[in-house]
Amino acid sequence: MLHRAIATVAEPHSWQDYVVPQQWEAFTADDHAVWDLLFVRQVDLLGTRVVTSFLDGIDLLRLSRPGVPDLGELNAILTPRTAWRTVAVTGLVPDDIFFAMLAARVFPVGNFIRKRAELDYLEEPDCFHDLFGHIPMLADHDFAGMAEHIGRLGEAAIAAGQGERAARLYWHSVEFGLACEGEALKILGAGLASSFGEAHFSLESEAVERLPFSVERAVATDYKHDAFQPRYLVSRSLEATIAEVMALTPERLLTI
Ligand SMILES: [Fe+2]
Repeated sequence: MLHRAIATVAEPHSWQDYVVPQQWEAFTADDHAVWDLLFVRQVDLLGTRVVTSFLDGIDLLRLSRPGVPDLGELNAILTPRTAWRTVAVTGLVPDDIFFAMLAARVFPVGNFIRKRAELDYLEEPDCFHDLFGHIPMLADHDFAGMAEHIGRLGEAAIAAGQGERAARLYWHSVEFGLACEGEALKILGAGLASSFGEAHFSLESEAVERLPFSVERAVATDYKHDAFQPRYLVSRSLEATIAEVMALTPERLLTI
């Protein structure tokens, strides 16, 4: 998940500075049990309410295997497929680092998992959000390209002092977007796909706005960091969103 920077940038730094060893063996038996509980619960909850590429990614990446995924094993499938790879990070990364990672086809994964007593409360994204929510879509070749492109747009926007423009675009597509598949409204965003409470809410609540997605609208639309979204942007198809985002240049992003 993209988050607000937690510290101002005092010194030059690179995304590699934020990578830590996963140390998969340090996850406890209860950590693995929590993953299994979350995985089964979320797969049941989603059913077919999520775009088909997401369900394909779950299968392709064998995410249904028990326990917290080993990033090395995951990358052994993901990287040959789309050139994306996961890395472990300790927690929040600043926006400039996050976008630089995306531009390099690297996805940061919080190296911890929520506790059993806090299944639905997250102060920051854990490995269930990052791996279950985000990684399936990165096995889709076209989405994989779009995610890299958003990273490059983000780098350019931050360099121009306009990082929030790229953040809004990311938020309303990769994180909290909805998309049509034929006549059906589906979840696209990782923040919805991995959320027990907001998944159905985003599709079914009558108390929210659902507006057609466009990059112009996404860039101009605020979002909530700490509550369910009051509005969701709905693309007419996953392919349409990918095509529109891929056509967006940094220069255009800065003048919308
Ligand atoms: Fe996320």
